[in-house]
Amino acid sequence: NYYAILMAGGVGSRFWPVSTATCPKQFQDVLGAGETLVQTTFRRLASIIPRENIYILTNKNYNEVVKEQLPGVKQEQIVLEPVMRNTAPSVLLAAMKINQKNKDAVMMVAPSDHWIQGEQQFTKDLEFAFEAAANSEKLITLGINPTFPNTGYGYIKYDNPPNSRLMPVKAFTEKPDFKKAESFLAEGNYVWNAGIFIWSANVILQNFEKLLPEMYHLFAKGNPVWNTEKEQDFIDENYHKAHKISIDYGIIEKAENVFMIPASFKWNDLGTWGSLQEQLPQDINENTVINSRFLSFEAEGNIIRTEKNKVVIIEGLKDYIVLENDLVLVVMPKKNEQGIKEIREKVMKKF
Ligand code: GDD
Ligand code: MG
Repeated sequence: NYYAILMAGGVGSRFWPVSTATCPKQFQDVLGAGETLVQTTFRRLASIIPRENIYILTNKNYNEVVKEQLPGVKQEQIVLEPVMRNTAPSVLLAAMKINQKNKDAVMMVAPSDHWIQGEQQFTKDLEFAFEAAANSEKLITLGINPTFPNTGYGYIKYDNPPNSRLMPVKAFTEKPDFKKAESFLAEGNYVWNAGIFIWSANVILQNFEKLLPEMYHLFAKGNPVWNTEKEQDFIDENYHKAHKISIDYGIIEKAENVFMIPASFKWNDLGTWGSLQEQLPQDINENTVINSRFLSFEAEGNIIRTEKNKVVIIEGLKDYIVLENDLVLVVMPKKNEQGIKEIREKVMKKF
């Protein structure tokens, strides 16, 4: 009865110019691991979930890429969104599909843009979560110990009952401002939301009906089409009408019965190049080099990623990122990397 939906519809704009609209980061070997992020995520899920129960949710444009990268996956496992509406509509749609297949289904929401180390711990945590979510009203999320006031995450305030790894969530705050994030850390009983959720398909549907009723009824009209040939037509006709909102803002912040399991694996949201560097090997001068051969005379703390294993020579550069794709070369201080989204937009307008 275990199912997973692999979320692969983001554009990864902070990873530009390596991540592009035609090939976002989840379809790339960002880490130089020998496989793409989607492939790693799928493989990880397949260790606990039957392959045929793993659905890939992505934009229409990426159908071919998904089929190419996950050759065993059948077309009916790929859900194609005609427009981007963030995660709530895709989760709702997938839950309806899964619920139509199996009334006792327990499903996991799996982002495709994470780095995880400790596959065994990951599997164990998930088995525990699946068991806890089966035949229950619980919405389960995995929690990560916070290390700094990152404003890009959801913050979970939890209760700590003795002898239990299942902690009731007292409050969930998605992407707080810096001050709030700081005060959460100071207060102590907060963890980051990993963005990995586990729940019964019918329970999440009840939550949608209550908390996002308009969206629920929009898709509920489609009930007879799920898992039939008419499904894609229905999605093409109706998906764009859905309100653009994430599952975190739309459901988790407002829902009752949310529980947190502290993750026992190592986790990193591959949000920016800087956050990625912690996970990658560095040379003695703390340079991280991906897909390149690097000659350094006097360079320190840089992140370098080029195409085609190019020889890169850098002299006198400290704490920079050096990135390229076929068309663009970017050299900028690491501390400015949050601004890469805006730079990308400017460049797209100009060229
Ligand atoms: N199918 C589909 N369609 N997938 C999407 C869409 C969409 O429209 N938008 C985003 N995704 C995918 C992304 O590719 C990613 O794998 C996942 O859904 C999460 O979306 P992000 O856009 O990366 O969310 P976030 O990082 O800002 O925030 C979420 O993750 C944090 C941890 O990484 C939230 O759940 C936070 O609470 C959490 O802390
Ligand atoms: Mg993310």
